[in-house]
Amino acid sequence: MADALLRVGILTVSDRASRGEYEDRGGPAVRAWLEERLVSPRAYEMRVVPDEQAGIEQALCDLADEAGCHLIVTTGGTGPAPRDVTPEATRAVCTKELPGFGELMRAVSLRYVPTAILSRQTAAIRGHSLIINLPGNPRAIGQCLAAVFPAVPDCIDLIGGPSPRWRDPSGQAVELNLHS
Ligand code: MTE
Repeated sequence: MADALLRVGILTVSDRASRGEYEDRGGPAVRAWLEERLVSPRAYEMRVVPDEQAGIEQALCDLADEAGCHLIVTTGGTGPAPRDVTPEATRAVCTKELPGFGELMRAVSLRYVPTAILSRQTAAIRGHSLIINLPGNPRAIGQCLAAVFPAVPDCIDLIGGPSPRWRDPSGQAVELNLHS
C-alpha cells in the first residue's frame, strides 16, 4: 500500500479567517510542510470553518467519511478562550484519543514559547482517519508536526490506511518503524 494515494484533510478553525477578515495562513503552512516531507502520492482537501463546535465536528466528519482522508490536520482553536473548542469537537467525533501527540507537541513547543502549556491540542482516531490538532500560530505548525510526524505513518498503517512514505529533514527516506 506504500504507493497508494494518501488523502490529507487540512482544517483551519478560525472565526476571522472564515469571515475573510484575514488570509488563512495556517492551512497553507500545514500543506507546505507536508509537501516538503511526503514522498507518497497525495491529495489535499482544504477547509476553513469558524470556532463553532457543531461546524468543526461536521467538517471533521465530512473529511473523514465523505472525502476519505487518512490524515486530518486541524490548526487553531486549541487554547483556553471561550470560543476555542477544536479539541472538544475532535473528541466528540472520534472513538480513540491518542494523548501522546498532545503531550509531545506541548513538550517540544515549550522550547520555543512558555505559552505552549495553553494549548489543549490532541490527536484521535475516527474510523480510518487520524486527526491531529495544531495551534493556530503558523510558527507552531512546523514545530509540532516535526515532533510527531515520525509516528504518523505507523499510526495510519495501524488504522488501515496507506502508510505514507516520507523524508526526514535531511531528505533521507524514512521506513515504517513497525516493520523494521
Ligand atoms: N505552540 C507553539 N509551538 N508555538 C506557539 O506560538 N502558541 C501557544 C500555544 N502553543 C504556540 C504554541 C498559545 S499562545 C496558545 S493560546 C495555544 O497554543 C492555543 O493556540 P490556538 O488557540 O491558536 O490553537
